[in-house]
Amino acid sequence: MHLQFILFMINLILFGPPGSGKGTQAERLKEHFNLLHISTGDLLRAEIANGTQLGLEAKKFMDAGNLVPDAVVIGMLGGAVEEAKTKGKQGIIFDGFPRTTAQAEALDNMLMEKGTSVSCVLSLVVDEEELTQRILKRGLTSGRSDDNDVETIRKRVQEYRTKTEPVAGYYNNQDLLIEIAGVGTIEHIFNALMQAVNNVASNHSDN
Ligand code: AP5
Ligand code: MG
Repeated sequence: MHLQFILFMINLILFGPPGSGKGTQAERLKEHFNLLHISTGDLLRAEIANGTQLGLEAKKFMDAGNLVPDAVVIGMLGGAVEEAKTKGKQGIIFDGFPRTTAQAEALDNMLMEKGTSVSCVLSLVVDEEELTQRILKRGLTSGRSDDNDVETIRKRVQEYRTKTEPVAGYYNNQDLLIEIAGVGTIEHIFNALMQAVNNVASNHSDN
């Protein structure tokens, strides 16, 4: 049972700039494939809401649209594989993680130690104008401190371009990167993502 779980674990990374639809699509993919959803942004916002020391530290970075330091984020994910197992999940969907090459290397090591690996990286492609419009619209109701101000949104996109985009190259070198157009209806994008994961899963089971 334990061995079987490890062999068939599906570990997905939803990759893309702020506002590209990672959270929206992760909600659907986790239901469809029975995955544990890990959003580092949501975990950090929960720390802030609970007033923890980690949350206080992270808030300064998040409010300014900067990435939180690697060590803080990596430290939050140590128990992910065990949690997925305990909850009877087929695998994990990472949303907003990894965002730097150091985080990607830490994730590879963490999964390898548990006898598993990243199945594929689904990269949502959306242009900058659309991202800004989506985030500003959500900012009307989200209560997120980083959603309301155009300068902060620009900073988030800039952090993505300089620190996170190189992570796509890291996974492309491992032949794990799949680009999906992130514009159109949520349903249409979900279908494209689902098909991509099914292709990866069937290639895996053929081997
Ligand atoms: P995080 O919470 O991860 O935010 P983000 O990456 O900036 O992305 P968003 O959550 O804003 O967008 P999303 O891609 O999830 O899109 P969504 O589905 O919501 O990170 C926040 C901060 O935390 C970071 O800036 C950083 O400080 C810190 N942090 C988090 N992880 C970190 C890490 N690993 N390392 C370091 N720091 C970290 O959609 C956006 C909107 O568009 C929604 O309103 C949605 O309804 C709408 N929408 C979705 N799909 C469509 C569509 N197809 N058409 C039209 N609208 C759509
Ligand atoms: Mg999100």
